[in-house]
Amino acid sequence: MTEEILYDYLSSSEEETMMLGMEFAESISKGDLILLYGELGAGKTCFIKGILRGLRINEIANSPSFIVVRQFEDKMKINHIDLYRLSSRQMLLDYGIDEYIDDIEAVTLVEWAENLLLDCSPSFNVFIKKLDNNNREIIIIKKTD
Ligand SMILES: Nc1ncnc2c1ncn2[C@@H]1O[C@H](COP(=O)(O)OP(=O)(O)OP(=O)(O)O)[C@@H](O)[C@H]1O
Ligand SMILES: [Mg+2]
Repeated sequence: MTEEILYDYLSSSEEETMMLGMEFAESISKGDLILLYGELGAGKTCFIKGILRGLRINEIANSPSFIVVRQFEDKMKINHIDLYRLSSRQMLLDYGIDEYIDDIEAVTLVEWAENLLLDCSPSFNVFIKKLDNNNREIIIIKKTD
């Protein structure tokens, strides 16, 4: 397994984070697993909105905390998972998260990947760090076997 920093970026607005998501979408292909790390309000959902726009998917990303998995299909099959409330391995298995993260037919996007206590092989890890109100550092690591 090798790792490469694809982007190390400073964003100073929601729009800029979305644009980076759009640009990053060009590197994504079917079967990719994308893990997003970062605290509450970091901008994970905002970045995913940009990814969906970049993939030309007519579905808006949102992450209401009570929805764990949203699955939809447009130009591509998308699994959007939010693990905020899933703090144990058993809860992940109860929701079938193990199957979503192995879905080779979809692009799978995982918010709160800190809680993903399962073996998996991500294509990309995205770290979003809140620097202050409007500034974020966004680091995208590309993983290859
Ligand atoms: N540079 C920035 N990039 C992204 N969001 C920003 C930025 N500056 C300010 N914000 C604000 O931060 C918030 C990010 O919200 P978002 O829902 O994307 O975060 P999240 O990481 O998905 O949070 P949660 O853990 O609750 O799901 C928004 O209110 C947005 O307006
Ligand atoms: Mg979110």
